[in-house]
Amino acid sequence: MNIALPLPRIENAIQHDVLQENASLLDGLLQPTARIDSKYFYDDTGCQLFNRICELSEYYPTRTEAGIFRRYAWEIADVLPSGSQWVDLGCGDCGKSREWLHHVAPERLVGVDIAGDFLQSSLIEVAAHNPEVECIGVVSDFTRDLDLSTLLSECPDAPPVFFYPGSSIGNFARADALRLLRNIRRNCGKHGRLLIGIDLIKPVEILEAAYDDAAGVTAEFNLHVLDVVNQKIGSDFDRTNFSHRARYDCVHNRIEMQLVAQRDHRVELGSQTNRCFRAGEHLLTEYSHKYTPNGFRDMLIEAGFAQCQFWTDPYQWFGVFLAEPGQ
Ligand code: AVI
Repeated sequence: MNIALPLPRIENAIQHDVLQENASLLDGLLQPTARIDSKYFYDDTGCQLFNRICELSEYYPTRTEAGIFRRYAWEIADVLPSGSQWVDLGCGDCGKSREWLHHVAPERLVGVDIAGDFLQSSLIEVAAHNPEVECIGVVSDFTRDLDLSTLLSECPDAPPVFFYPGSSIGNFARADALRLLRNIRRNCGKHGRLLIGIDLIKPVEILEAAYDDAAGVTAEFNLHVLDVVNQKIGSDFDRTNFSHRARYDCVHNRIEMQLVAQRDHRVELGSQTNRCFRAGEHLLTEYSHKYTPNGFRDMLIEAGFAQCQFWTDPYQWFGVFLAEPGQ
């Protein structure tokens, strides 16, 4: 006999203001250097392309972080509070959290993601394989606003462990990254933790190859954002007028992904507005910051964490921090 499992609880903490979102997208496109927020990469096609990027030989972050987790999972789990509320920020298919469930046996898994439908199907899958863990989904753009205090206070004896892998923090400008870290710190309360992955500074050739692979998957990922924008605001970007470029900026320690206009042309940005692009002019689509262990530790301290532990791989290409508030 098949017994139907209860559906995971899903909380909606998002208010989509489409008009305002489109206005801010348009505003970015009209800046002196046109800008598209990197969150627009991740529609269904963009997520599939990103998954392909993660498997590329040039794109070392995913496998390097996985190696650190494999090697040190028990050591890390040993210093985590038991019976926690495991909060996966930007959980996607919860693939990384699933691995951790064996090591940390949390009371709850809270998956936070902006894609509600996908979140529900991911959590159904996790719940089916982990019936002892209460699975909850929160549909939220946590990068703007993160307040899980009511949800977390339902289990006052289970401290939250925020899990933010993959160096996604690197996609924010420094001030925004700091704001997000402060928000996480606030949600941690006295006994919570943050387990976070960050990409480390390394030779430029390795960095640039990781964002400009030989098979052209990252180029496709970057150009695809123009299709997403066309769909959102009814613009008529023609991707054949642009080419992908990834440059490492040694001053700001970040990869900058750009779309470079190949010829002078004009783009209609919806019904009333247009913008001319000159050949060689670029549109900025993503920052991906790289850190030194000490530099990122300083950011954690500035965000209000008091103690940090750090793990890395043999080449020191990627780092994992466990941060705690301290007493
Ligand atoms: C999601 N994020 C951490 C990726 C990165 O490495 O910055 C996004 C990405 N962009 C191009 N390749 C991967």
